[in-house]
Amino acid sequence: MPKEMLPVVDKPAIQYVVQEAVSAGLTDVLMITGRNKRALEDHFDRVPSTEALLEAKGDAGKLAAIQHATDLGEIHYVRQGDPKGLGHAVLRARTHVGDEPFAVLLGDDLIDERDELLTTMIDVQARTGGSVIALIEVPKEQISAYGCADMTVVEGENYVKINHLVEKPAVEDAPSNLAVIGRYVLHPAVFDVLENTPPGRGDEIQLTDALQTLAVREGEGGGVYGVVFRGRRYDTGDKLSYLKAVVTLACESEDLGPGLRDWLGKFAADLKK
Ligand code: G1P
Repeated sequence: MPKEMLPVVDKPAIQYVVQEAVSAGLTDVLMITGRNKRALEDHFDRVPSTEALLEAKGDAGKLAAIQHATDLGEIHYVRQGDPKGLGHAVLRARTHVGDEPFAVLLGDDLIDERDELLTTMIDVQARTGGSVIALIEVPKEQISAYGCADMTVVEGENYVKINHLVEKPAVEDAPSNLAVIGRYVLHPAVFDVLENTPPGRGDEIQLTDALQTLAVREGEGGGVYGVVFRGRRYDTGDKLSYLKAVVTLACESEDLGPGLRDWLGKFAADLKK
């Protein structure tokens, strides 16, 4: 099963990501998929026979849930073909996107819907005219799992200016403990840069490398800015973070929350004995 289809409480992880885009006003969604990812297309497709069955049974709750998944927005699909890295995947969107700024959301990063991120990034892109990345502070020893940014504070603004980006540096080479997470709002100039970006770390075409080129470019499409995110983020590609996402979100859900919190309290108390 593709990891994007892993259930987080009562829906697959990818549905949270699509919902986040739609909530930020981005209703035209292009998914870059690959081998064995057909389950994603099926999930967002209508199943008239199931809908008819639920309607006949009078199960309004389940009917609304499956219709919600298929009514989210206009979803298009393109296959990546050769898995040559995130930069290569983004380049596959070029024809669809055209000459406009666009957002990139990585399917294994979940941002809690109660925390603001994407709308802030879209606003920063519109105001700066450059590209925008999202950053979190991580313990320094974890930085080599992420793209890493060196930045300068912009006085009076809710964003920082990116001076330098490096993909998954060794701890001793990392310019900071600011890690790039899976949300980007990019100027279309990134496409030309990606076309000319040679394979980098892991022999893959890295989006981070293309953004480093744009960070030091002046004029049209140049400049990279960062929004430092201090809200809740879950990485469903990491087993522990995935489990925390399921428990946290279930604890806060209206129907499951009270029962689960009660049980968890007792369970945790038993663990200490
Ligand atoms: C990608 C990016 C990396 C970023 C990370 C966030 O890496 O290349 O810069 O920090 O996503 O999740 P991946 O995790 O796909 O190896």
